[in-house]
Amino acid sequence: MDLQGKHLIAPLDLTVDEMEGLFALAKNIIASPEDFSEICKGKLLATLFYEPSTRTRLSFEAAMLRLGGQVIGFSEPMSSSVSKGESIADTIRTVACYADIAVMRHPKEGSALVAARKSGIPVINAGDGGHFHPTQTLTDLLTIKLEKGGFDGITIGMCGDLKFGRTVHSLICALARYSGVKFILISPEELRVPEYILDEMKDYDEVRDLSEALPKLDVLYMTRVQQERFFNEEDYIRLKDSYILNAAKLKKAKDGLMVLHPLPRVKEISTDVDDDPRAFYFKQMKNGMHIRMALLAALLGKVGM
Ligand code: NCD
Repeated sequence: MDLQGKHLIAPLDLTVDEMEGLFALAKNIIASPEDFSEICKGKLLATLFYEPSTRTRLSFEAAMLRLGGQVIGFSEPMSSSVSKGESIADTIRTVACYADIAVMRHPKEGSALVAARKSGIPVINAGDGGHFHPTQTLTDLLTIKLEKGGFDGITIGMCGDLKFGRTVHSLICALARYSGVKFILISPEELRVPEYILDEMKDYDEVRDLSEALPKLDVLYMTRVQQERFFNEEDYIRLKDSYILNAAKLKKAKDGLMVLHPLPRVKEISTDVDDDPRAFYFKQMKNGMHIRMALLAALLGKVGM
């Protein structure tokens, strides 16, 4: 398997075998980080963030620095020529002259694909509007894999904004390829999973009630209602607190449940859940750096996989 020079735009750009290769590599990186601390020496990552980010951008930057590489980029697009009206295509052509690999987040669906088509260097999609966020998916899956050993036969509940949540869409597409995975989709009617994502799943239920679904779950993937994607403030206010997971509700859940959240959270997970051994969202964000190290090294052709 050779990922050198490839783009990662959508979750299905990686085969199951390629994802498994990245998980294995991330495990090796976690076990012996010193073996990887120089492998991207002389390589430059460009981070192009047209939308806010804390974990994704910083974990990519930390990942590249921990591989011995370096980082350039912007997180305030209005400080770049974007403010003068430059297109994504011209920005990526420019960046490809200076850097070896680029990671891009943009509010428009399809923007990373547009960039990849014009780019002479690998482009990684760090979120394109309400569409996909494939490296969050690698993070989510590595977290489950490290705890449960695999994905076959798991029951996963996805709760919150399943309409605009790009992390949900990506995770469903990637996970639906494993056998016996059951999805329980918990959302208000207005925030249901879009049809094109429903089509990916063999076995799913759509429900409205979190407490009722909770006892059945091996994994609960909580999400934030995506305020920035709403057209109307009233709808956001009405829907934003639809689901709040707290310690009292969690009493009904299995001992082996994993609670995941891509973060940032607003109110959908109370802080009284944070110390429960079933809360995995802080471990998850740490795993995000390790899987991004694996991905950067693989796309730059620095590891045999
Ligand atoms: C997510 C995103 O940007 O889609 N955040 C992240 O990358 N960890 C989730 C969110 O913003 O709700």
